[in-house]
Amino acid sequence: MPDRTSKPAFALSLQDVHKRFGSNAVLRGVSLQVAPGEVIAILGSSGSGKSTLLRCINHLEAIESGSIEIAGETLVQNDTGGQARYPDDRSVRRICARTGMVFQHFNLFPHMTVLQNLIEAPMTVKGLGRGEIVPKAEELLRKVGLQDKRDAYPGRLSGGQKQRVAIARALAMEPEIMLFDEPTSALDPELTGEVLRTVRQLAAEHMTMLVVTHEMAFAREVAHRVLFMDEGVIVEDRPARDFFASPQHPRAQAFLQHML
Ligand SMILES: Nc1ncnc2c1ncn2[C@@H]1O[C@H](COP(=O)(O)OP(=O)(O)OP(=O)(O)O)[C@@H](O)[C@H]1O
Ligand SMILES: [Mg+2]
Repeated sequence: MPDRTSKPAFALSLQDVHKRFGSNAVLRGVSLQVAPGEVIAILGSSGSGKSTLLRCINHLEAIESGSIEIAGETLVQNDTGGQARYPDDRSVRRICARTGMVFQHFNLFPHMTVLQNLIEAPMTVKGLGRGEIVPKAEELLRKVGLQDKRDAYPGRLSGGQKQRVAIARALAMEPEIMLFDEPTSALDPELTGEVLRTVRQLAAEHMTMLVVTHEMAFAREVAHRVLFMDEGVIVEDRPARDFFASPQHPRAQAFLQHML
């Protein structure tokens, strides 16, 4: 059993993670440690493995080798033969429920109201009663400024509103880590602003977050650390201030020049 008496030093820890799709080695030895409350921006060109990294952390993809620890619990580790081994499905689900993921395209349940979207997983996965979760869901909707959309269907919401519902839905599971995969890249600039405000608010509340983003101004302002990925490897992992002041890796330099 995990030791729950002491808080783990890391919210997230990855050691030498490898992931391939067929002959395409997409993550080639990724190691990473994230302290509780840290906000990390993940940058890198298209195809460098950013989404795959997040998807391996919450087990939408399985890794071939390496280890991943979430809030002190082992999601996966190598066996003696150096192959990644996961525990039983129930344990995997429980450990992954400690992370919440927000996608570029919202992924809300279209046939459910906003409120139903928020309470579905806490009821079915965590077994919470309606009476317990509804007030909490309403509070989360207030927090993202959408209390008046409680009974609306996602089809009636703007992209920015949908994304704020998706964030509230992830928060309803009380995750210890939030993973964002380009949460604003499907949005117009004015809608981007309202979503980034919500993410900024979570940062101020010391939520641990990994944010894949192309919003450089946002990354510079909110992230404590920047990871720059290139071809399946983290080639820079530095305080955001240092990274933006003087990127070291040639690919990072070229990337920033292009973005700014
Ligand atoms: N399900 C999959 N099956 C096969 N190949 C995949 C799959 N998902 C990703 N890949 C491949 O893995 C590599 C990394 O993809 P990934 O989506 O992680 O990149 P990314 O850094 O998120 O890129 P982008 O900035 O375009 O979102 C790419 O070569 C991609 O084609
Ligand atoms: Mg991606």
